[in-house]
Amino acid sequence: MSSRPSAPTVGRPTGTREIPTIRRKDGLGGALAFRNDQLRFLGAGLDRYGDIFRFRPLGIPIVMVNHPDYIRHILVEKGESYDKDAVLFRVVRPVLRQGLIANPDMELWRRQRRMMAPHFTPRTVGNFARNMTDETALMLQRWERRPGEVLDVTDEIGQLALRIVNRSLFSAEVGATAQAFERAFGTANAILGAFFRFPFPPLNVPTPRSRKLHRAIDEMDTFVSTFIRARLAEDTPASEDADLLTLLLHSVDEEDGKGMDLEQLHHEVLNICIGAYETTTNTLSWAFYLLARHPEVEAKLHAEVDAALGGRSVPSFEDLASLPYTRMVIDETLRIYSPAYQFMRRAREEDTVGGYRVPAHTNILVNSYFLHRHPDFWEEPERFVPERFTPEAIAARPKHVYTPFGAGHRICIGKHFALTELILVLATVARRYRLTLPDAATEVVPEALITLHPKGGIHLRLEERR
Ligand code: HEM
Repeated sequence: MSSRPSAPTVGRPTGTREIPTIRRKDGLGGALAFRNDQLRFLGAGLDRYGDIFRFRPLGIPIVMVNHPDYIRHILVEKGESYDKDAVLFRVVRPVLRQGLIANPDMELWRRQRRMMAPHFTPRTVGNFARNMTDETALMLQRWERRPGEVLDVTDEIGQLALRIVNRSLFSAEVGATAQAFERAFGTANAILGAFFRFPFPPLNVPTPRSRKLHRAIDEMDTFVSTFIRARLAEDTPASEDADLLTLLLHSVDEEDGKGMDLEQLHHEVLNICIGAYETTTNTLSWAFYLLARHPEVEAKLHAEVDAALGGRSVPSFEDLASLPYTRMVIDETLRIYSPAYQFMRRAREEDTVGGYRVPAHTNILVNSYFLHRHPDFWEEPERFVPERFTPEAIAARPKHVYTPFGAGHRICIGKHFALTELILVLATVARRYRLTLPDAATEVVPEALITLHPKGGIHLRLEERR
């Protein structure tokens, strides 16, 4: 299938080689090409060099890896030898600070993850399923007056995702501050996405851009601290049906018997809001877009949802097992438009990956946009084919050629929460409505910010199903 240079297997006993480096004379362009169109630049690098190459945007060497063996090695087998003190996470750390997502301190991260993981298991996230379906049903009530209208789907689903995370974290309704949070996140995502591609001037230099970023961070902090302060004043006990904030407030580390301090709690809550909001919004928006372009897939989805729900209009957590095709639609959407499409690691020590020498402190880039289109593992990768995710098809592929939630010990803590939400929302909407293209020529392209955003948003016409 592939016309790319082939990848050697990890651990092949051929001695170590140097990783090929993109040079000016290669004609791929340098920092400017990366800055102008990151995806085009990296795609050209892969076509030229294959599954591992080095490039130097503005002098900082970064190694891109794009083979499941390399990814398994770095994220899973030698996960402890690679930390998050990498350029991408340094760029986002002013926003995320010491929370789980970008935390480079392995000890602190381990302690936090130990305390938080029990609240994000496949079973415990079931406690939040009602928030997901209740909020979706309310959205559909608001849609009742709007059949025939072209909806700003990204905005509608963005509000829904924030309502769901708000109820799950704080048992709270969305107020005006939620819109401020959405706007602030959008601002930070755009500024930091551009800064990652061209990190000048530094963000601690007071320019209009850095002031704008810091205002956005303040908005997000205010959003979180308002809820935390109110909760501290109430002193709510932890119970079976407690929200995530109460669960985190009462979490205690099994090793030292202590909880997390208030600053750390603030960072974790903010990380959950950020981790949960745009990723799920983008996935669902892209899913509706892909379904609108593929009526044959949509018909199968409708048949499954109708059969699973019978006379009911809203699914429950227990219905997830009867919605395997809905899950496949989500899996395939996450393949094509992986929202957290890039993440990085830094080698703590020298290592060998696929026979190539990786010096200590190397920044490594994993880009799921390309991995999920790797021509050796995905046939016709641009086609939307949910059947790629039948159990048999999954078993026939290397596991680490599909990483929408990352892999290894830093895998997304919210994976089960996200999948539950994505499947339940999609099934609830599909039971009642179709979202169709306003005109056949509608085409939305991805925009590579810190997350992979649908450029200009996704706009679809609301049609009641007959
Ligand atoms: C479609 C939805 C989502 C996608 C695609 C996604 C993707 C990811 C990816 C790729 C990572 C790992 C990054 C790395 O290895 O460097 C990650 C980490 C994380 N995600 Fe998600 N995520 C989603 C939803 C959520 C939700 C719903 C939450 C919270 C409820 C969440 C919270 C987090 C946190 C806290 C981390 C850091 C985990 C750690 O390092 O221990 N994510 N996510």
